[in-house]
Amino acid sequence: MLIIGGQMEFSELRRLRNAFGTFLTGITVVTTRQADGVPRGFTANSFTSVSLDPPMLLVCMDRQAESLGVFLESPGFGISILAENQFDLSVLFASKQPDKFEITEWTDSPSGYPILDGACAWFDCERYSQVEAGDHIVLFGKILNFDYNSKYGLGYVRGGYMMPGLEYSAGRAYGSNSPVVVGAIIEHEGKILLYDDWEKADVCLPASGLDGNSGSLQQLQSDLIDQGIWIVIDSLFAVYENENHASQSIYYRASITKIKRPELLHPIDQIPWDRISSPALKSMLSRYLEETSRKRFGIYFGGERHGTIQSLT
Ligand SMILES: Cc1cc2nc3c(=O)[nH]c(=O)nc-3n(C[C@H](O)[C@H](O)[C@H](O)COP(=O)(O)O)c2cc1C
Repeated sequence: MLIIGGQMEFSELRRLRNAFGTFLTGITVVTTRQADGVPRGFTANSFTSVSLDPPMLLVCMDRQAESLGVFLESPGFGISILAENQFDLSVLFASKQPDKFEITEWTDSPSGYPILDGACAWFDCERYSQVEAGDHIVLFGKILNFDYNSKYGLGYVRGGYMMPGLEYSAGRAYGSNSPVVVGAIIEHEGKILLYDDWEKADVCLPASGLDGNSGSLQQLQSDLIDQGIWIVIDSLFAVYENENHASQSIYYRASITKIKRPELLHPIDQIPWDRISSPALKSMLSRYLEETSRKRFGIYFGGERHGTIQSLT
């Protein structure tokens, strides 16, 4: 390791950050209130449970955070553990957007700290102590109240988000070792995201793993982000074994939170069906349109041609 004059070189800092990033965490939003009552909050994955008796937890706060002073002055804080469909809230609370709390649904904890609606667990804490630790300050909270539900939490690893519940249902459906194609039907304001491969005269859905190496949801999301497209996964849509049994496909239903290439979006009533060569994609898209009109979605399990649909409750 290169440490110069007690400080790490920039490239070593990057490597250390990457090494820390291999540790799979959940995502929390930590909140408090200013002395005048204005709510403040930020996204944190440094949450750790500390003690059962007395009940305690910790979160590490960057000294550079604008809200640091507010957290250090406040007698306590609230923590919401984000559920796997709350990826957009993680992005929002990591931003400097001033109206975070106006555009988010939340409720006060018993001590008066905002708890985000839809979270899979929350904790209401009294600030127990704080420890200065390098460029962060560790905030220890004594838990006064908490609750949780059966939702899966949002995962975070190597700088990308994971939906463990969805990955688990997909993985369980096909526990094989064959390569996986992971794709998505992504809708935005009545339009579907389609890739147009003019060379092959083919239109297809975004997917990772088409090159024969196993794809993943994380790979799909990071490929899309590289192209200026941010998505949030809504639900699993189809899991099927491909015709030659050499691979399996897992497709999700997703929506766009931000897109820099709107030209990739095709209005639902102008899908170029004659240019989609894959029968499986055609049938998935037509089921998608039919289920969209009924506003009731199911998950398809089976082969490319025959399978069953489990309705999503
Ligand atoms: C996935 C993720 C995890 C983060 N974890 C932490 C963390 O543990 N501690 C921290 O201080 N900031 C963390 N951040 C950064 C803060 O959320 C971000 O800097 C935020 O803007 C701070 O808010 P403030 O400057 O308005 O106080 C994280 C950001 C992301 C996207």
